[in-house]
Amino acid sequence: MLGDSRTEGAELVLDQLRKAYDRTLAVEDVGLQVRRGELVSLLGPSGCGKTTTLRMIAGFVEPTSGSIWIRGRDVTRLEPYKRDTAMVFQNYALFPHLTVFDNVAFGLRRRRMPSPNIRSRVGEMLELLELGGLERRYPRQLSGGQQQRVAVARALVVSPSVMLLDEPLSNLDAKLRAGTRVELRRLQQELGLTAIFVTHDQEEAMAISDRIVVMNRGRIEQVGSARDVYLAPATQFVANFIGASNTFSGTVAGAEGDSVVLHTPMGTLRGPRAGSANKTPAADAPASLIVRPEEIRVSSPDVETGLDTNVVRGVVQVSSYLGATVDLSVRGATARSFSRAEPIMLLACTRSEPTSACAGL
Ligand SMILES: Nc1ncnc2c1ncn2[C@@H]1O[C@H](COP(=O)(O)OP(=O)(O)O)[C@@H](O)[C@H]1O
Ligand SMILES: [Mg+2]
Repeated sequence: MLGDSRTEGAELVLDQLRKAYDRTLAVEDVGLQVRRGELVSLLGPSGCGKTTTLRMIAGFVEPTSGSIWIRGRDVTRLEPYKRDTAMVFQNYALFPHLTVFDNVAFGLRRRRMPSPNIRSRVGEMLELLELGGLERRYPRQLSGGQQQRVAVARALVVSPSVMLLDEPLSNLDAKLRAGTRVELRRLQQELGLTAIFVTHDQEEAMAISDRIVVMNRGRIEQVGSARDVYLAPATQFVANFIGASNTFSGTVAGAEGDSVVLHTPMGTLRGPRAGSANKTPAADAPASLIVRPEEIRVSSPDVETGLDTNVVRGVVQVSSYLGATVDLSVRGATARSFSRAEPIMLLACTRSEPTSACAGL
């Protein structure tokens, strides 16, 4: 049992949640507290345990161990419909033989709400999601975006304590997806909804979330705001999964305060300690420095940077113009391979401390 201090003020608490299938540990020791009105994303690659976690919260999958609390109540063994959650499924799972109105009214009828109240409540939801006028249509007569909004309306209509969304935008085309996620975020904030949003798309998670839970192989790698996970990734996995990054691997040369100095084949680099490297990293331990592309300045090789660290020489192999940015594929030039005859560039970090040094990786 959890003490009050763990559940107090939290709308949803997951405590050491675990799910084992015959051969797979799908979810392992997942712990999380979600505040009222917060939108938290579960982000990670396919198969990392996002859906299993969500379905355990909803009550469709029984945890092997651990517990789930909603508004201070242990719901771990409760039937799904007694949990005060509502789910939006990836494929929407609308009832094909029911009209838009009846799809949205479904949860209210199950709760035995009187008909006149159902009519006004469903009407409100259809207005809110800009589905007015479509109430008599069947799901097959709707566009993908409209079906998606019906699925959201059907979940919202019962005023759940916690809304659960499993990749709700993945069936929409890219443009509609970006617009819809803004709409969803606006709605969630306006209504003060508590929501768990599952996605494998890091940009989507960053755009929509108060906090992001980055998952890998059934475990939580990091929980933090979009800024946290981007600027201070706790692990190499998070660094690679969230946004583009350049990784420079080498060995620890020393530590100065909160900085770590690395010797790499491309030069000496310095960055802040991150992740599990709270203790002073041992000299010569393998370590990597992760640098975000926007922190790198590219110059011609004869420019005087005035920097003695964080300058790397390389040879441009491919240059791809992408509109707002240019993608450069650069081969590092070591002292030996470096030849004045090759077209070379100098990469210098614009900040004296680039993103993140993960010692001991
Ligand atoms: N019903 C099941 N039986 C056996 N293994 C399952 C079942 N559901 C999910 N898994 C496995 O659990 C892991 C996590 O799956 P899932 O939660 O669906 O991942 P995600 O939603 O992140 O893609 C995967 O390895 C998957 O194959
Ligand atoms: Mg899934």
